[in-house]
Formats: sequence, structure tokens, C-alpha cells
Amino acid sequence: MEKLYPDSKVEVHGFEAKFYDFLLNLISFGIYGKFIKKAIGKMDISPSDKILDLGCGSGKNDLLMRKYLNEGFIVGLDIGDDMIKVFKKRTKNINNIDLIKNRIDKSFNIYKNNGTYTLENNEDKILFNKAFISFVIHGLPQESRLEVIKNAYNNLETGGKFFILDYTQRPLKENPRSFQILFKKVECKYAFDYIERDIEKDLKDIGFTDIQKKTFFKGSINLLSGLKK
Ligand SMILES: C[S@@+](CC[C@H](N)C(=O)[O-])C[C@H]1O[C@@H](n2cnc3c(N)ncnc32)[C@H](O)[C@@H]1O
Repeated sequence: MEKLYPDSKVEVHGFEAKFYDFLLNLISFGIYGKFIKKAIGKMDISPSDKILDLGCGSGKNDLLMRKYLNEGFIVGLDIGDDMIKVFKKRTKNINNIDLIKNRIDKSFNIYKNNGTYTLENNEDKILFNKAFISFVIHGLPQESRLEVIKNAYNNLETGGKFFILDYTQRPLKENPRSFQILFKKVECKYAFDYIERDIEKDLKDIGFTDIQKKTFFKGSINLLSGLKK
């Protein structure tokens, strides 16, 4: 499959997509699974939340978020066919997790039509009260990151929150040595650009307020949130 951004490493295909969660756990010596549970636990998900997951990948995070839901639901967006296959297999008997194949870096609206979520315009436009993006935004060019933030903003209701789980923006040398080695080994040019940027400012410029930050792995990773007032 042709990539949208040939230099990006967040467009995951083939073997890597099929075994994405397993591989992450392997290279992190099993830490990744525990970390992601902990991070999602900090999102204060309530039973009725409507969650938009941008670049939802294999659906692992959606299954974790779903544990907090009752009448709430999750809609994931992704473009990777191989990731989508894994997502669909994992969530096939689950009625409150859905996926729409679509880019997150172009404007979109989500509607409900006969019980399914769709991009086709009808009366029933959905606004979410949480939007989440995990380890996707660093792998996009800066103009596309800004589009993603705008899309999150536009698809949230007033009082909704946007959560970004990703690398902390600080010079690479301020991170632990092991992190620096891994980052240099696996990351693409956009990730090197991302850690030099100021996404808190980008969030504010687009309209988010009350920016909060929770850090993990000696500050190398953080969960940022912004409120749509
Ligand atoms: C590194 S994976 C992360 C998956 C998941 N969020 C997680 O934390 O496990 C990045 C995901 O973003 C998707 N993706 C990358 N660029 C995208 C784009 N422009 N629009 C929609 N999805 C995209 C990929 O297909 C892939 O599933």
C-alpha cells in the first residue's frame, strides 16, 4: 500500500501491523502493556463517554478504554488496511466500538446512520466528549499535526477533552540514555521534528484551554490534555 507520507513510520503495514502490540511489548520487555493501561486510567473515562480515537491501530487501546464504559461508545479512525484487519478481528463481537476507515489529517464529521457510524452527511452528527490520539501525531508533518488538532477540536462538544499520548517535547539529550538509543534506532524524521516543537502552544492556538500534562518513563512520554471551552 502506498504511504501518504513516505518518510513516516506511523503508517504501519504487513508483519509489523499484524503483530504490532506483541512487538511493542517485546522491545519494551513487557512494560508497554502496563504503561498504556496506566495512561488510559488517567483519562477519567466515565461510563457514558463518547470517545473518538484518532489512528486507533489494532484496537488494543479501545478495548482498554471500553472497560470504563457502560452506555458510552468509541469510534476509531484509521487508514492502515492491515491494522484495520486486526482491529476488526479483535472487536467483532463488541457493539460499542466501531471503526471508520479515514484519514485523521483531513477535515471530517461523523454521523450516525441506522446504528452505524459514517462520514456520510445526515441529520445525526455526533460530537464526542473525549478525543484520543496515541503515538500517531509525532509521525506526521507539522501542517498535518495542526489539521489533526483542528479535527479533534471540531469533533468535540463544549466541555470535551483532547488527550495526546506521545513523546515529550524536549531535547533528545534530556531523556534517559536507553530512550535516546531506542528513539534514534526506530524513529523517523517527523518524530525528531516533533520533539523540538511546542504542541501545548499549538493546542492553545487552535482553541484548547486548561492544558494538563501527566508524565511517564522519567518524563520521556506524556499524556497531554486540552479542554474545549
Ligand atoms: C504507531 S500506530 C499507533 C496505533 C494506536 N494509536 C496505538 O497507540 O497503539 C499509528 C496508527 O496510525 C494510523 N495512521 C497513520 N497516519 C494516519 C492518518 N493520516 N490517518 C489515519 N490514520 C493514520 C496507522 O495506520 C496506525 O494504525
